[in-house]
Amino acid sequence: MPIAVFDSGVGGISVLRELEKIMPGEDYIYYGDSANAPYGTKTLEEVRQLTCEHARRLLFDEGAKGLVVACNTATSAAVKILRSRYPDIPIVGIEPAVKPAVLCKENPRVLVMATPMTIREEKFHRLMDKYKDKGTIIPLPCPGLMNFVERGDLDGDDLRKYLEELLFEYNHNKVDAVVLGCTHYPFVKKMISQTLGDEVLVFDGGAGTAREMKRRLNEKNLLSSGKSKGTVKFENSLEGEQNIQKIKLCEQLFTEKL
Ligand code: DGL
Repeated sequence: MPIAVFDSGVGGISVLRELEKIMPGEDYIYYGDSANAPYGTKTLEEVRQLTCEHARRLLFDEGAKGLVVACNTATSAAVKILRSRYPDIPIVGIEPAVKPAVLCKENPRVLVMATPMTIREEKFHRLMDKYKDKGTIIPLPCPGLMNFVERGDLDGDDLRKYLEELLFEYNHNKVDAVVLGCTHYPFVKKMISQTLGDEVLVFDGGAGTAREMKRRLNEKNLLSSGKSKGTVKFENSLEGEQNIQKIKLCEQLFTEKL
């Protein structure tokens, strides 16, 4: 049985890569809802409904043994509901890696880049409250940043300009660390680093999420044994030629050709 990995688009591939690194023998279905992306500028209710519908389909129509919600936005909107609906199935979400970032040194300044919805939601406010005594946490909504990644533009001039404007107040090492609180952002990590300054430490939640999924599967004796290399199947909600192009982009992002 495969593990399903879900995102609003191609961003969750940054999490899929981490899953594959530590569980290479598993089969994966990666589903991106690019037809409805971006999620980060939608209402809570819209994201909740889309996430629940895709989760149901992946678990029951496609027969996945577990689900990774590889989208910070969808996690904050729906992971609690999914867990209460399907208590016996391993369901793991992702949240901004604020903890390792605030612990990186004494009293650091930590910038958290995420979608407007992630930053607005209660889940993030609780996370911020938990670590507020450890450093200065600066939330920064980044509407539009995921679109560059959806287009496969990871180092173009438009992206550079967008980041220079967005990060203007924080460039030249004015923060100690940055948290990439959206699964699309690790694909533009190099350019974010260049814009903020080389000394800024970069954190994302992909590896921690993958480890948590492995732990949950192991707990339920659901890890597959035997095979050394599993399969990865990409699916996307776009249709026709757009679907073909998007799947191609997924494969490139997965095999790190981009
Ligand atoms: N990849 C998603 C996340 O981690 C969000 C992108 C979107 O706005 O759809 O938050």
